[in-house]
Amino acid sequence: MKLARVILLVMTTALAAQGAVTKAAFGTTPDGTPVELYTIKSAGLEADIMTYGARIVSLKTADRDGKMADIVLRYKDLAGYFGEKNTYFGAIVGRYGNRIAHGKFSLDGHAYTLPLNDHGMNTLHGGTVGFDSLVWKGHEIPGGVEMTLVSKDGDQGFPGTLTAHVRYTVHGSALRIDYSATTDKDTVVNLTNHSYFNLSGEGQGTIFGEMMELFSDKYTPTDAGLIPTGELAPVAGTPFDFNKPTAIGARINDPNEQLKMAGGYDHNWVLRGANGVEKKAARVYDPASGRVLTVTTTQPGVQFYTGNFLDGSKTGKSGTAYQKNFAFCLETQHFPDSPNHPAFPTTELKPGQTLHSMTTFTFSVQK
Ligand code: GLA
Repeated sequence: MKLARVILLVMTTALAAQGAVTKAAFGTTPDGTPVELYTIKSAGLEADIMTYGARIVSLKTADRDGKMADIVLRYKDLAGYFGEKNTYFGAIVGRYGNRIAHGKFSLDGHAYTLPLNDHGMNTLHGGTVGFDSLVWKGHEIPGGVEMTLVSKDGDQGFPGTLTAHVRYTVHGSALRIDYSATTDKDTVVNLTNHSYFNLSGEGQGTIFGEMMELFSDKYTPTDAGLIPTGELAPVAGTPFDFNKPTAIGARINDPNEQLKMAGGYDHNWVLRGANGVEKKAARVYDPASGRVLTVTTTQPGVQFYTGNFLDGSKTGKSGTAYQKNFAFCLETQHFPDSPNHPAFPTTELKPGQTLHSMTTFTFSVQK
């Protein structure tokens, strides 16, 4: 009897800790392809993930009073996401997240040319039709969903048929994302998630008051097209030093060339610790709601982007126009333009190898 009660208690706790999964139809793409929405719910977290772009559509977490709110930017419905090429709300970006200079790179002596979808200058987030705007295949797994996409040899100019799997699972108040990929020809890969967070809640104004911590001593300064110069510059003594929790807005308008070029923060920080080993990337505390987001990853870098290109032209779920700086992104990744920087950690993937990486977004509160 006593044992049965203990077993029941353990089972109930495990259920509350591991997310319960439900699936529903979410509509269709303009060409009629059905899109599904998976909801993963634990006691402390509720995540909606759709098969279009393997995107996080909503992420509800508790504030210091236990009140749940959606803390990611999103459109009101599926239709909002189509024909929209600039924001990547919640998406998995690939095959190469972030930029490749002039849409060119060489691999094994072959030169490859990619679409110039970033102001006609560079390739951004995998090209004109990146992984963010394709329908993935969803499949329920314990505590979450696995999304699969096959990108054909030559897709957006990249060599090799790439099979990518992205697993979203909920454990207590943490959302874990596991990435894996294989190829049948040498290629380059950089996969990340492009969620826009506002810990006060979606549509609740700018993120200037949220306290950012980035566990990093160096970042990769860029040229005017946001392509790394190749230098790993120390953050010490600059507005890029977030080793002490600092309000995102405190230095964003400083007369700093790098900030001026990007219109705010839109840079890659070099994380401490080896590529492939899990490490702390960031911690964000929102004094208004008490919400805390901690990000860990096996990736070598994180792009901290302050929604500089939001301009009020996109209206979100709650009917609010998303203005500049209404959210921040923490895109855990390999460094931008790595295929053209042999000194950066490699993004090459060869047949027979399996790429693995992992990122967790853990939520808690501070009183
Ligand atoms: C990334 C880039 C930004 C911007 C956004 C999408 O974060 O680094 O420059 O392109 O994606 O708007």
